[in-house]
Amino acid sequence: MSMVSNYLIALLLLSSTYSYAAPVHQPLGKLAAELSQQSQWNLSISPSGENLPIGSGTAEQGKQLFALKCAVCHGPEGIGATAEPLMGEVGTLADDYPEKTVNSYWPYATTLFDYIRRSMPINAPFSLSADEVYALCAYILSRDGIINAELDLNNENLPLVTMPNRDGFVAIYPEK
Ligand code: HEC
Repeated sequence: MSMVSNYLIALLLLSSTYSYAAPVHQPLGKLAAELSQQSQWNLSISPSGENLPIGSGTAEQGKQLFALKCAVCHGPEGIGATAEPLMGEVGTLADDYPEKTVNSYWPYATTLFDYIRRSMPINAPFSLSADEVYALCAYILSRDGIINAELDLNNENLPLVTMPNRDGFVAIYPEK
């Protein structure tokens, strides 16, 4: 092999070694600080209703949405299929066979809004409008008589809803 081709091979090896050794960062992900500026990462709603978006919806509207977008996994009556039951079983927590559904177990109705908006349907999170989420909450809550089926659920009256298990939780570290 000639001197020239030896030299070329050495050069090639060196350059490839160099490109592997250099710190190569894939352009994946975003800085947490940048993400937290996006509205879809700032969704937390407090029990008092802080951060609830303006909007409203009825159980009747929610019923149709539920059949279209939720029933496939949660069952046509919301009593569970491949995914958790959401309605029913209120008052069973102290029974031999307690069943934790949203309506039997969750302490705050505002959590329902927060949860649905950020994660449901599970195959299309963030896809529902605020009005649609209020309507779905109205449907789910009205199925167990937690709210009146005629109520126009909105950002002002959702925090006022009292869930059946509201007082069923105890603090591990009670305030002194
Ligand atoms: C493709 C299936 C699928 C669809 C469609 C779907 N969900 Fe879910 N849902 C799930 C699964 C799976 C979970 C459990 C997730 C977990 O525990 O991490 C869940 C959990 C939930 C929970 C919390 C239940 C609990 O007790 O923890 C709520 C509330 C909920 N879904 C509401 C809805 C609503 C409202 C819709 C329609 C807009 C919907 N889901 C559509 C699969 C689905």
